[in-house]
Amino acid sequence: MNNWPRSIAAPHVVNIEDLRERARKRLPRAVFDYLDGGAETETSLRENKRAFESLIFRPRNAMAVPECDLRVKVLGAELTFPAILAPIGYSRLIHPDGECAAARGAGKAGTAYILSTISGHKLEDVRAGTNGPVWYQLYLLGGRPAAEAALQRAWKAGFSALFVTIDTGTAGMRERDIRNGTGQLMSGNYFGMIPFLSQFFSRPAWVASYLIDGGIHKLPNVIVPGQGPLALVDVAKALNESVVTWKDFHWLREAWPGPIVAKGVMTGEDARRAIDVGAAGVVVSNHGGRQLDGVSATLRVLPEIVKAANGQIEVLMDGGVRRGGDIIKAICMGARAVLIGRAYAYGMAAAGEPGVNRAIAILRADLERTMKLLGCSSISELNQSYVQLPRDWPDARAD
Ligand code: FNR
Repeated sequence: MNNWPRSIAAPHVVNIEDLRERARKRLPRAVFDYLDGGAETETSLRENKRAFESLIFRPRNAMAVPECDLRVKVLGAELTFPAILAPIGYSRLIHPDGECAAARGAGKAGTAYILSTISGHKLEDVRAGTNGPVWYQLYLLGGRPAAEAALQRAWKAGFSALFVTIDTGTAGMRERDIRNGTGQLMSGNYFGMIPFLSQFFSRPAWVASYLIDGGIHKLPNVIVPGQGPLALVDVAKALNESVVTWKDFHWLREAWPGPIVAKGVMTGEDARRAIDVGAAGVVVSNHGGRQLDGVSATLRVLPEIVKAANGQIEVLMDGGVRRGGDIIKAICMGARAVLIGRAYAYGMAAAGEPGVNRAIAILRADLERTMKLLGCSSISELNQSYVQLPRDWPDARAD
């Protein structure tokens, strides 16, 4: 039995939505909305979650399932939990332990952690906290020289796979961030910040921990030649100047000795391009509904991509996973494993590393219970026969 801090234990926290409420109470509005929000009308953000709700389980009853085998092999790593912790940019703003806490939580749970390029902690420190697999997510911030230096450091430190995010041709329009003055708050211009400061008065605990942590840090893993670490305020501009294209994958295969995964694939066409450029896998992802609004729910396009991948590359998916049952549904629809983003980040916001552990424990308990109720003893046995698709979805098994 785990001894969770009271604030994240039952009956206060029973599911991920409860952790989200805890996060809302702890974070200033600008930080909570940065984590919680999506682009424009937030349709894709909502659709990601709704798609899971519209899949119906088909259980096999009168089955005794005393133990569940949750093991899955991803990119050569044996994971004992089929949900990988997704890259969340600047987790250090959410909690001072940020990326280090997430990596430790993942390692303890027997899964992998993907570190964002936009990390407030040094990649070496993140790696040092866990024996589990750690993978690096790349944005070409600061151009190829900065990326090459980071990749060399990451490989040397023991990061064993590279996730290249391809859905950030420009920054998504997050309307909540504009209303909250997130740009002004990051700018360092005190005069410009004044109209937006009141949201911090009601969150003294977060403000204290933020100040003790030294305020906004530069990005210690993006060292721009001749300039040093990139400032957070310059990230949006740097992203716009450094869009990744499929051509970059050829260079990346020279620069990175390990497997490369394209994160942000939403069509069969892009899955085939990923195969053509030598990727080892893809993540079916719409960036958690934060980039192109109006794009399909990821669960819905997953079968198209599984089909295009044709067993040649590994297919992961993310977006909207809030319950263990969602993980099962994604695997039934052909994903090898899922990535979770906000689900663990809400926990981190609520309570740092124990909050990450709590989020994972909730999902693990869900997962085991749902497998038992489904009458399936192993993740490797899940398939589409355990779910019924809504009528207007194409049958993933049909040609
Ligand atoms: C992200 N995501 C993201 N992806 C990425 O490749 N690099 C990054 O730096 C970030 N940063 C980031 C910050 C925040 C606050 C969020 C919520 C998300 C996207 C992330 O890796 C993942 O694709 C989504 O979070 C998955 O959706 P859910 O699980 O949050 O619904």
